[in-house]
Amino acid sequence: MFAHARDQSSNILLEKLDMNIERAKWIADFMRQAGQKAFQQIALLRHRCLAGPLSQRLCQNAIHDEDGMRVPSLRPARHLFSSRGWGQIERMKLHPADLSALKVVASGRSLLIGHRGCARWRPENTLPSFRFALEAVADLVELDFRETKDGELVVMHDRDLDRTTDAMHLWGKKRVAVDSRTAAEIQTLDAGSWFHQRFAGTRVPLLKEALDTIYPGAIPVLEHKSGDPQTVIKLLRAKRLVSKVVLLSFNWAFLRQAHHLEPGLVLGALGPPSVLPDGRKPRKLLRLFVARWLKPMRETGAKIIVWNKRVSRHSVKVAHDHRLKVWIYTVNSTKLMKRLLATRVDGIITDDPLLMKPLVPYWGL
Ligand code: G3P
Ligand code: CA
Repeated sequence: MFAHARDQSSNILLEKLDMNIERAKWIADFMRQAGQKAFQQIALLRHRCLAGPLSQRLCQNAIHDEDGMRVPSLRPARHLFSSRGWGQIERMKLHPADLSALKVVASGRSLLIGHRGCARWRPENTLPSFRFALEAVADLVELDFRETKDGELVVMHDRDLDRTTDAMHLWGKKRVAVDSRTAAEIQTLDAGSWFHQRFAGTRVPLLKEALDTIYPGAIPVLEHKSGDPQTVIKLLRAKRLVSKVVLLSFNWAFLRQAHHLEPGLVLGALGPPSVLPDGRKPRKLLRLFVARWLKPMRETGAKIIVWNKRVSRHSVKVAHDHRLKVWIYTVNSTKLMKRLLATRVDGIITDDPLLMKPLVPYWGL
């Protein structure tokens, strides 16, 4: 009888053990999938941590630097995750093979895109600006690139160096064009002091340095200002980042060439384009986003329309019907953000990603 009871209890134990093994396997599987998903979504969802009660505690943390400049800080956000949880996220960031530009673009959420990094709080198109955009939980980080005299790509919006560097002071010449100097020469300039003395000594980044800073924290959005498609594609291939970035241009002929050379690139057609397919400049009326833009835009291979604020709910719907995403630049007021979100745009490019904080209820979170 005892033997029978012992057998029975060991059977029960074995059953329990089997069950536990099954459960352990299930949990392990779940954790693995959750782990993979966690990273895929972390860049997408980071700003969700601003939703709900957490939001009250995050953006209120503004610091004043020694010159009295008000600089919002999101650093405390990290402490709101358990240290282990945040550590896992940080580690996962080292293996972001799954985080592709296409997945982020197609996520179905309105994306937050930092303009020239975070141009409101840091000198535009510099590494501090990109780092701040990451802290400000942008999903994607936009920058402008140009080709130098020696064929390097540097991050710079304007054609010349006057506005955002000390070139004029250092070289005693006005309007020195980016393409008239080598990258090494341009990197001797100060690209931070014009914005604020505390950024003195900040350099003009090479595009490859900017990519290393932004990715994998967010998806880089590279706006072509000059240079041929081969040069940027060569760099992206060498860094294995072809599927990890979005490439934009107002020059739709450039986009068509880029698409032909590297169909795997996610392209965004900036509008209105600098020139029409027939070589003319678009008239004023055509600066609106209207259906007649769709055909030439689709011919570029672009998946995203990146337009100014002149869009209507109807035009956004027409774009969506053609399986195109719509991003809007450059949106620097919460009122406008709210209006645009109501028109169901897919992305908002802003100098200040923190502006979206009061809009969390509208952001589809
Ligand atoms: O990426 C959109 C926006 O940056 C285009 O305008 O002049 O700021 O490069 P711009
Ligand atoms: Ca730009």
